Amino acid sequence: MEILAIETSCDETGIALLRATGGLRAPRFEVLENLVASQIKIHRPFGGVVPNLAKREHLKNLPILFRRLLARREAERKPFKPDIIAVTVGPGLEPALWTGIEFAKGLAKRYAVPLVGANHLEGHLYSFLLPSRAAGAYTSSLAALRKRVFPAVALIVSGGHTVLLRMESFAKWKRLGETRDDAAGEAFDKAARLLDLPYPGGPEIEALARRGNPAAIAFPRPMLDQQNYDFSFSGLKTALLYYLRSAEEARPADVAASFEQAAVDVLAAKARRAAESCAAESILLSGGVAANKHLRKAIGRTAALIGANFFVPDFKYNLDNAAMIGAAGYLARLRKKKYPLRANGALDI
Ligand code: KG4
Ligand code: ZN
Repeated sequence: MEILAIETSCDETGIALLRATGGLRAPRFEVLENLVASQIKIHRPFGGVVPNLAKREHLKNLPILFRRLLARREAERKPFKPDIIAVTVGPGLEPALWTGIEFAKGLAKRYAVPLVGANHLEGHLYSFLLPSRAAGAYTSSLAALRKRVFPAVALIVSGGHTVLLRMESFAKWKRLGETRDDAAGEAFDKAARLLDLPYPGGPEIEALARRGNPAAIAFPRPMLDQQNYDFSFSGLKTALLYYLRSAEEARPADVAASFEQAAVDVLAAKARRAAESCAAESILLSGGVAANKHLRKAIGRTAALIGANFFVPDFKYNLDNAAMIGAAGYLARLRKKKYPLRANGALDI
């Protein structure tokens, strides 16, 4: 079936068109179009996402992206006849979510097709199934399904969430742990601010860290030794703040590299413990922070060490996008999971 998908939970407006086949056991996706309009430049002066600005930009961008999608289909002489429309209903910023929901409702009416609510976190969770052009180091959906996936341990690390799940199948999972305070991405963003780096901080810290020594500063590894699967990142941020206040001469690259190492160590250690205790066949890594090469490598190494497969989405599907929402919509429909078609900022996974 063809799925038109819409994502407006935060500061990226996304519209995608996918072809989905294979059902719940062996879902496969072909991404026909994946358009994203980023608002980073608009929010940057404020050091974070401003909900009402995000809403205004989504309202402006949605019709532009949709017209572009139609034009591209037309140029390729491909018909535009989606079977369903999927839209993110949460979690995220409610004013932003509503813009996508209202727009999707309009389209569902115009094309007389069902509208399916999608969970943004499930979008990240399933994003490893989206095909990657660069086969090889990582995965494509076909390659993924030839390897054993379940039971799997999934680590979702984004700007708003840090969650560890144990998955039995594409339809069944249990939450093992989560962050007790800041999300991993939030910690990167706050650390960047302390280092006078622009928003979003993750990519900035990663770039600066490349020139630094990750062992230069012994930042704490919060909750590393606790026998649970929870995380805490606000202590790490505070340690960084105190370090910057007290250090006579702080080399920003060393600070960034040491901070990144501390965050990566904790994430990798807990993912490993979870995977071992679940006898996981694979570890899945997703969310914006999964764009971090250091983290990808560390989790990949962890998986290899314990003989598990490692699945991570192609770089273009780590950050918010609508293609992953199409995947989430397809699988939610197969799971008969019906999310109400209204914004739910605190929707859980
Ligand atoms: O998944 P995402 O695009 O949005 C949410 O659902 O929250 O994640 C955005 C988060 C931001 O906090 C950003 O700083 C972080 O992902 N991020 C990174 C990197 N790229 C993005 N964190 C660490 N390293 C990166 N390369
Ligand atoms: Zn996200």
